[in-house]
Amino acid sequence: MNFLLETLQVLLMSLVYSLEAFVRLFIPPRKKNVSGDFVLLTGAGSGIGRLMALEFARLGARLVLWDINEDGNNETARMIKETHGARAYTYTCDCSNREEVYRIANQVKREVGDITILINNAGIVTGKKFMESPDSLIEKSMEVNSLAHFWMYKAFLPAMIAANHGHLVSIASSAGLIGVNGLADYCASKFAAVGFAESMALELLATGCDGVKTTIVCPFFINTGMFDGANTKWPRIMPILEPEYACRKIVDAVRREQVYVYMPRSIYIAIVLKNLLPTKMGVLLGEYLGAFNFMAKFKGH
Ligand SMILES: NC(=O)c1ccc[n+]([C@@H]2O[C@H](COP(=O)([O-])OP(=O)(O)OC[C@H]3O[C@@H](n4cnc5c(N)ncnc54)[C@H](O)[C@@H]3O)[C@@H](O)[C@H]2O)c1
Ligand SMILES: *[C@@H]1O[C@H](CO)[C@@H](O)[C@H](O)[C@H]1NC(C)=O
Ligand SMILES: *[C@@H]1O[C@H](CO)[C@@H](O)[C@H](O)[C@H]1NC(C)=O
Repeated sequence: MNFLLETLQVLLMSLVYSLEAFVRLFIPPRKKNVSGDFVLLTGAGSGIGRLMALEFARLGARLVLWDINEDGNNETARMIKETHGARAYTYTCDCSNREEVYRIANQVKREVGDITILINNAGIVTGKKFMESPDSLIEKSMEVNSLAHFWMYKAFLPAMIAANHGHLVSIASSAGLIGVNGLADYCASKFAAVGFAESMALELLATGCDGVKTTIVCPFFINTGMFDGANTKWPRIMPILEPEYACRKIVDAVRREQVYVYMPRSIYIAIVLKNLLPTKMGVLLGEYLGAFNFMAKFKGH
């Protein structure tokens, strides 16, 4: 195609997509019906994993729950049975162990069938200054928060590609978009998770597999216990999120096939400023927003 024609086409389509995005501000896309879906959640035994499992069960989806913690996982299944009368399939799996992921994934395919919505949610945090973090915990963070996502895709994506239907959800973090003092290994692992999910979405698109969707979730602190003691300086601008709110936003975003979900909304502004402002001004603003002391009183679970 010649240069002029192609450029004109891009300009025209840019206009169309801008208009579409503008209209979408007022009329959001319809939420898809997930009643026929098989949803697999890692880290389903507590926190927002459990809440998302309950929400998808309420919407009529079949649930496959994975956690390293058998007690917590069973409790989630019991809650689903009690509130929605539905059976959830539970599997005890350490998703940082590649062999175990492949083994349990085969078991799921035999016992339940193909997964259509995969939610990589399991996560851990060290919460110490980097030089004081034990090597084993640093390695574990990378294994659970990022490497596990590779193995889960390897296990469950082929069936989605074959059917050109499915949805990949990455529960990353705003710490996967901006570095944070006191969270170096966690940030590294979450940046990796974001980069992986984003690249895979492009790889799928480039191979014409447009029926497999991706949603990348980057929340600020959520009040689940995982980050107990972490503090925010101006809760009006950077509130610690309620788990129920975060869960509702994520499930809605999946049903609307939204690709990026940042919360609270001030994260969108923080990202723009980080990339736009002179570096010293960015640091100044970060300090003003209390970003240097987020982890000062961290206790965790
Ligand atoms: N809580 C927050 O402030 C916050 C903020 C942003 C992002 N996130 C992310 O949200 C996700 C859920 O966090 P949460 O707040 O519900 O925490 P949580 O600790 O309540 O839940 C995490 C779950 O993952 C499970 N898990 C841990 N390691 C595992 C492993 N190796 N294999 C299988 N399961 C494992 C745990 O047993 C637990 O049930 C995490 O990925 C976390 O990084 C949390
Ligand atoms: C979703 O689809 C199922 C059948 O696939 C149907 O029974 C149900 O009524 C639908 N729900 C909504 C809210 O449209
Ligand atoms: C969890 O549930 C399974 C299956 O129902 C059961 O076999 C197992 O003993 C339970 N584990 C715990 C720790 O309660």
